[in-house]
Amino acid sequence: MQFDTLIQNGIIATATDTYASDLGISGGKIVALGQNLPADAASHVVDAAGNYIIPGGIDVHTHLDMPFGGTKSADDFESGTIAAAFGGTTTLIDFAIQQKGQTLRNALDTWWKKADGKAVIDYGFHCIVTDLPDARLEEMKSLAGEGVTSFKLFMAYPGIFMVEDALIFKAMLTASDSGSMICMHAENGGAIDVIVRRALAEGKTAPKYHALTRPTTAEAEATGRAIALAEMAGSPVYIVHLSCSEALEKVREARDRGLPVYAETCPQYLYLSIENFDVPGFEGAKYVFTPPLREKWHQERLWKGLAADQLQVVSTDHCPFCYKEQKELGKDDFTKIPNGGPGIEHRLSLVFTGGVHGGRFPVNRFVEMVSTAPARLFGLYPRKGTIAVGSDADLVIFDPNLEQVISAATHHMRVDYSMFEGIKVKGAPRQVLSRGRLLIDNGKFVGRAGHGEFVKRQRYSLQ
Ligand code: URP
Ligand code: ZN
Ligand code: ZN
Repeated sequence: MQFDTLIQNGIIATATDTYASDLGISGGKIVALGQNLPADAASHVVDAAGNYIIPGGIDVHTHLDMPFGGTKSADDFESGTIAAAFGGTTTLIDFAIQQKGQTLRNALDTWWKKADGKAVIDYGFHCIVTDLPDARLEEMKSLAGEGVTSFKLFMAYPGIFMVEDALIFKAMLTASDSGSMICMHAENGGAIDVIVRRALAEGKTAPKYHALTRPTTAEAEATGRAIALAEMAGSPVYIVHLSCSEALEKVREARDRGLPVYAETCPQYLYLSIENFDVPGFEGAKYVFTPPLREKWHQERLWKGLAADQLQVVSTDHCPFCYKEQKELGKDDFTKIPNGGPGIEHRLSLVFTGGVHGGRFPVNRFVEMVSTAPARLFGLYPRKGTIAVGSDADLVIFDPNLEQVISAATHHMRVDYSMFEGIKVKGAPRQVLSRGRLLIDNGKFVGRAGHGEFVKRQRYSLQ
């Protein structure tokens, strides 16, 4: 058998197994796994000695080139996917936003144009639904047939994205009929809005009030309501960017009852806390995202939730805005700070450091939460999310001992600060391949814009 690339001497780690094996790639697919595969049959040989070979990371929550908060997220599909590749992510699912009155397809057409010719890794889209007259329910079904098998709804951001329970319920009924997943931003937007107005009236305008006006109870209430609506509709539900223990309890309880309820958290909730707002002047704006940072004790509860499969996925919610000029839009009023933080580049390193080196879970569970579970939940498995003959050769040669200090001075995201500035990580990609093509080679980007392709996803089928 001829190989385009042969990877030798690595330790393959999947969600279930860890074993020494060579790996042969041909036509962008994994075509052989086994000991002593013949090097003379390969055009290109990669030595992975001392490293894990893991399936490429899948980040199912990013916002590239997204208009929001009176500006636009700072990474487009080229800069954002390059940064993702540096961090070992080879597929992402971004969000196409339906403007009110627009068709869902219109939203997708807009986002297809943003990504086409720019993305360096493969991508899919969830569709953010803001307006769902009955006539549009059929459209939801037809999109599922075209590989857009998930929809995001917001219970927060009144007047922008927030939708009412009846719309959520109708969308869930349609999702359960058509094999789609509903992704939920679960915060009680109405109650939060009242708290925010009162804070502003009291002259509380600094960035930390973004966090102090969004209580954990508002997240827990909406998480419980989303789960109740999904249970009535008979649909799966995926809670995005879960940040606190109270919301996690709602998910745990539902999962214990056997409901198809899933949730992700993000590295910022595992590493950062409300204490990050104790910085001079307006600097706290760097940590303004939604849901907000919580008290520090929530972090350990989230790590435990990941270890126990109460949380299934770590995504980034990458939504970068530069401190200068973008975050500064809210200098006198925290409600005008564009909500979001940059994180697409460091997800694998942060989770590996805290999770595997931190002794909280083994490498296989790490692979599961950054690649396999997202692939399964969002219709990419087994094409992506695992290492098996026939799967795409989306692979990361991951050095478990490579140490780095995260810094805006060295990162590749197009943003002027890092949420994780100064944090030391141990474990990082040496080489990254997408469908057999080398994208990252020991700290150098060697891919090309436009290599990334839209991936048609299968319907949800884990019930
Ligand atoms: O602050 C955040 N998370 N910005 C992105 C939009 C969202 O709610 O996911
Ligand atoms: Zn959200
Ligand atoms: Zn988001």
